[in-house]
Amino acid sequence: MLKKIMKWTVRILLLIVLLVLGYYTKAWIATDNRRNKQFSVKPVAIDLVTDSAIIAQGKRLVAVKGCDDCHGKDLSGRTIFEKSGVGRLVAKNITRGQGGLRPGFTARDWVLAIRHGLGQDGKPLLYMPSVNYNQLTEPDLKAIIAYCAQVPPVDNQLPLSEIGPGATILTDLGQLDLFAAEKIDHAALPPAGKEMAETAEFGKYVALVCTHCHQPNMKGGGPNPDISSTGKSSQWTDEQFFHALRTGIRPDGSTLKEPMPWKMTREFSDVELKAVRLYLKSI
Ligand code: HEC
Ligand code: HEC
Repeated sequence: MLKKIMKWTVRILLLIVLLVLGYYTKAWIATDNRRNKQFSVKPVAIDLVTDSAIIAQGKRLVAVKGCDDCHGKDLSGRTIFEKSGVGRLVAKNITRGQGGLRPGFTARDWVLAIRHGLGQDGKPLLYMPSVNYNQLTEPDLKAIIAYCAQVPPVDNQLPLSEIGPGATILTDLGQLDLFAAEKIDHAALPPAGKEMAETAEFGKYVALVCTHCHQPNMKGGGPNPDISSTGKSSQWTDEQFFHALRTGIRPDGSTLKEPMPWKMTREFSDVELKAVRLYLKSI
C-alpha cells in the first residue's frame, strides 16, 4: 500500500514538474518572439541643432519628462532593477563615453528610441517608456535630442538588461510592461508646438508622462492610485497637491513611495503643475 502511494506521489510530482516546464517554455518562446520582433517605422526627420537656447530648454525637459530619473543626472545610465532569478533592467549610458552610445548614433536613432521605443535594429528597447514620449511635440523632441546629444561623455560600462525566468513569467502574465513599442501607434506624427499655459489642454500634454503608471484615464490600477477627479488626491487643495508633487509628502504627512517620480514632478514649472491639476480634475 505504502509503495503504491509513493509511486503515485512521484507520478503526480513528475506531472507537475512537466506542466511547469511546459508553461515556462511557452512563456519563454512568447517573450523571446516579442523581444526580437522587427518593427518597420519611418521616423520623422529631426535636425540636430546646437542653438544654446534650445539646448537649455532640452535640459529642463530631460528633467521634466523623467529621462534623468532613469538614465541618471549626467545620463551615464544606471541599473534600475536587479534580482537573481528575475532579471536586470539597465537604463543605458546615453552619453558618448565608454559604454555609451554606439559611434554614429544619429538624430534618426534618437527619434527611434524616444518616440518609438526601438533600437537601431528596429527591435524593441526594454522598459524604455516611449509610450509617454510618442506624442512629445516636435519642438520638445528637438530640444531633448539637442541637449542629450551634447552632454559631456561619461565612461560607464554597464551590463545589458536581461529578462530572467521571473521577468519572463511576469511579462507573460501581463504584470510587467517591457515592450512599449507594442503599444505605440508608429504612424502617428508628433504634434506641433504647444504653448505653456494654465489650461487643462496643456495639462493633458504634460500628464502624458503619468500615463504609463496611472493609465491614460488616470484611474490607476495595482499600486498606482486613481489621480483623476474620482481619486483621493482630487480632494486635496491646490496647495496640498503642489506640495505633494514638489516634496513627495502627502497632506497627511505620509510619503509618496517609489516608483512615484516626485523628483521629476518637482522640476515642473508653476504653470505645468497648475495645468496638470486642472486636467486631472477635469477627467
Ligand atoms: C523608466 C525608465 C526610463 C526613462 C524614464 C527613460 N528611459 Fe531611456 N531607456 C531606458 C532603458 C531601460 C533603456 C535600455 C533598453 C534596452 O536595454 O533595451 C533605455 C534606452 C534608451 C536609449 C537607447 C540607447 C541605445 O543605445 O540604443 C535612448 C536614446 C534613451 N533611452 C533615451 C531616453 C530619453 C531621451 C528619455 C526621456 C525623454 C528616456 N530615455 C527616458 C529606461 C528609461
Ligand atoms: C513610474 C510610475 C509613476 C509615474 C510615471 C507617476 N506616478 Fe504618481 N504614483 C505612482 C505610485 C506607485 C503612487 C503611489 C505611491 C505610494 O503608494 O506612496 C503614486 C501616487 C501619486 C499621487 C498620490 C495619490 C494618492 O491618492 O495618494 C499623485 C497625486 C500622483 N501620483 C500624481 C502623479 C502625476 C501628476 C504624475 C505625472 C506627472 C505621476 N503621478 C507619475 C506611480 C507613478
